[in-house]
Parts: sequence; C-alpha cells; structure tokens
Amino acid sequence: MKSMFKLHATALLTAGALALPAFAQQAPLKVGLMLPATGTFAALGTAIENGFKLYVTEQGGKLGGRDIQYFKVDDESEPSKATDNVNKLIKRDNVDVLIGTVHSGVAMAMAKAAKDSGTLLIVPNAGADAVTGPMCAPNIFRSSFSNWQQGYAMGDWVHKRGHKNVVTIAWKYAAGDETIAGFKDSFQKAGGKVVKELSLPFPNVEFQALLTEIAALKPDAVYTFFAGGGAVKFVKDYAAAGLKKSIPLYGAGFLTDGTLEAQGTDAEGIHTTLHYADGLGTARDNAFRVAYVRTYRLPPDVYAVQGYDAAQMLAAGLAGTKGDISRKADFSAALRKAKIDSPRGTFTLSKNHNPVQDFYVRQVVGKENKPAGVAIKALADPGRGCSMQ
Ligand code: BEZ
Repeated sequence: MKSMFKLHATALLTAGALALPAFAQQAPLKVGLMLPATGTFAALGTAIENGFKLYVTEQGGKLGGRDIQYFKVDDESEPSKATDNVNKLIKRDNVDVLIGTVHSGVAMAMAKAAKDSGTLLIVPNAGADAVTGPMCAPNIFRSSFSNWQQGYAMGDWVHKRGHKNVVTIAWKYAAGDETIAGFKDSFQKAGGKVVKELSLPFPNVEFQALLTEIAALKPDAVYTFFAGGGAVKFVKDYAAAGLKKSIPLYGAGFLTDGTLEAQGTDAEGIHTTLHYADGLGTARDNAFRVAYVRTYRLPPDVYAVQGYDAAQMLAAGLAGTKGDISRKADFSAALRKAKIDSPRGTFTLSKNHNPVQDFYVRQVVGKENKPAGVAIKALADPGRGCSMQ
C-alpha cells in the first residue's frame, strides 16, 4: 500500500514537473526587498517600498500577469552583513528578483551576489559607480542615479553662481567619495577650485569640529553629500553654527529630500540638484503624488519615485517575456529598449543600465524642493569600467 502511494505520488510529481513552465508562469513572482528598516536610512527604505508597492497596486496587484509575493530583509545599511543578508533572499527564499538597496556599500555586495547567481537585481537608490561600472551585468539595472552623475550635475551650476573656492564635506564611503568626485569633475572644468575635502565616517553626525574648520577656511561656498537622518542633523548644525548666512550651502539633493519636516526653517532657501523635484507640475507627476499621499498619508519624495520606477522597470522587462522571468536575455533586451514613464519625466537606460535623465536645480521653499530650472539635460553615466555594451 505504502509503495503504491509512493508510485502514485512520483507519477504526479513527474507530471507536475513536465507542466512546470505553465505553472511557473502563474505562480507568484517572488520579489526580495532588501532595504534599510533601521538606522539613519530607515525612512528612505520605507519610501522605496511604498513607491514600489504603489505601482504594483495600480496594476491590480500583478506584474507581467503574475501575482507578487514579497520577501523582506532589513539590511541596516551595514555592508559587513550584506552578503549574508542578500543570500537569505537568493538561497533561502529563492526570490526571482532582488530590489535593493539604499547604501552604496551594501549595494556592491548585492551586485556581486546577483552577478554570481544570475538573479535579476534592480537598484532603487544606491549610486555606487561600480554597480553600473566594473560590476555591470545583463541582469543588473538601476532606477535611480550614479554617484558621479548626481555630483557632476551641480559643479558647473555652482561655478556659474560666482563661487570659485569651495569646501566639500561628505561621509567617507563610496557615495560620499564618488559624489564629490563627480562635483569636482564639472566644477574644476568650469575653473573652480576645491580648497579642502572634509569627511567623516558613515553614519557619524559629530559635525562640530568640521564646521569650525569651515568657518576658519572661509570658502565661497560648501558642497555636501549627506542623506536621511544625517542630512537633517547637518543642515540644523550648519545653521546653528551661524554659517548659513555667511557661506552658502549646496548639496546633492538628498540633503533636503524627505527631510524638510525635520529640518524646518534651517533648510529654507538651500539649493540642491537632483533628478526629481516637488511640484514638477506634469500630469504624470501630479497623479503619482496624489496617489502616494492618498495611500500613505506621507509626502512623496525622490526615494518613493525610485521605488515606483523600479516596479515600472520590472513590469517593462516582464512585458517582453510574457511574465516569464527565466527568459533572461529577452527580459534584458525589453528593458534596455524601454522608455520609463516616470514622475520625474520620461527616461531611458544607458548601455550600462543606468537612467539617462535630467537633473533639476531645486530650492527649498517651506516644506518643498521647488524646481528652479534644469542644471543639465539627459545626463548619462559614463559607465567607466563596464565592458557590457
Ligand atoms: C548611497 O549610499 O549611495 C546613497 C545613500 C543615500 C542617498 C543617496 C545615495
């Protein structure tokens, strides 16, 4: 009796295995969200997840005709835990696609694991140049920016404002170093001089000694990279040190994005550049913002947009494979050709799979980063070191 059951079960299993492709297409698509839920970038992780899920909900809960099943890991923005964390999603949960993350150091570990395992990865924030540079791969895409790109966007503009000698200050890790390098590229090309590069380890927020040094150096302006909780503290400390009135503060837009409620009037008037701004006034952006506020009762920000667009990118790839994520070459070809109808404005992907996009100048007015022009149009990351063309 026992062996007859076994035979029957084996036959069923075999039949099931033969039918697997059709079944697999109807099975939920397993999406692994690896984002920070704790630490200085926690709010950024929440906004990315909200944005991703908003797009999925707008599509009736399905992408490529498939229901979505979520798996989550809190990466704590901690590079030393990143490989273990990403392997929980790849090896334990067997996800079809990885969405993550915020921190450049963590994203580089994710990119390595994605490349080694062939798992599809869409990066919804971290700008690590290497991800779409030397680590680029057919299965790795980004919905956000490269660090070089965001820094480069502001250098020329700051010089045109009449600032010749600038001090930079940033966290000492890939995002800080590479953003400052991008800024220097365009600022020095325009004739500017970076008189001092200040830094402190991520995620430290003990800014006092560095602010004293800035006061002593008396540059024409300061350019920064900080984000999340660290950006809130930096802007408040800069104002409290009495520097805001005497030395104009500029930054990659993360300095004032998703932070204005906490920064209050200390952020008023600050100019930054970023690939998104509040109140672009397009029908697409208005619809996104209304839906986001209605769903989450929170103001939308750049992180929400990047999460929303990561879901749009996943949908664009799946549209080219009728929902079959195992057709990797077809998925990649479809996404490479796609035009993403983003709230930020339509964008395409460069050959190294990074958005080619406009960078806006924004100025803080009340609780918004209001658009104040375009710093640079259709800026593409150069993809240095990427051999996939
Ligand atoms: C990064 O680590 O790449 C990053 C973190 C927060 C905002 C922007 C970039």
